[in-house]
Amino acid sequence: MVEITRSYEIEVETIDSDHRRLVKIINEITQALDDKREAECARLVPEFVTLSKQHFAREEALLAKNGYPGVEKHREHHAALDGKMDTMLALAERVVESTAARDALRKELIFFLMDDVINEDMDFKSFLMDAASRKGNSTDG
Ligand SMILES: [Fe+2]
Ligand SMILES: [Fe+2]
Repeated sequence: MVEITRSYEIEVETIDSDHRRLVKIINEITQALDDKREAECARLVPEFVTLSKQHFAREEALLAKNGYPGVEKHREHHAALDGKMDTMLALAERVVESTAARDALRKELIFFLMDDVINEDMDFKSFLMDAASRKGNSTDG
């Protein structure tokens, strides 16, 4: 089971709650695989991809609104993940009949979440925390 430790929280509620939703659905997907509910897994993966894309858009808007200088670079990082999401969707279509697809999907999902989503966001954590303290209020919304 995947968990976000305290040090991997951005401390901006809109972003952290999105990340928690993404973690939750990954845990549901891996649980479905463990329980041999492959059809359920196949249904959840497209939901995960949609949520991820919505999250990226929300995060980019928040970074732009707060004047983060690396916003373009982070936008490009998100855009570069389209191929990985396509791979996960393709694997999800094969989980019912293929053990190899199930194993590959599990690995792809966890690396995607931990490395590409959560770890890469550490780049702007201190910027947003500083922005919030400069304004004396929240960077949310
Ligand atoms: Fe994020
Ligand atoms: Fe991000």
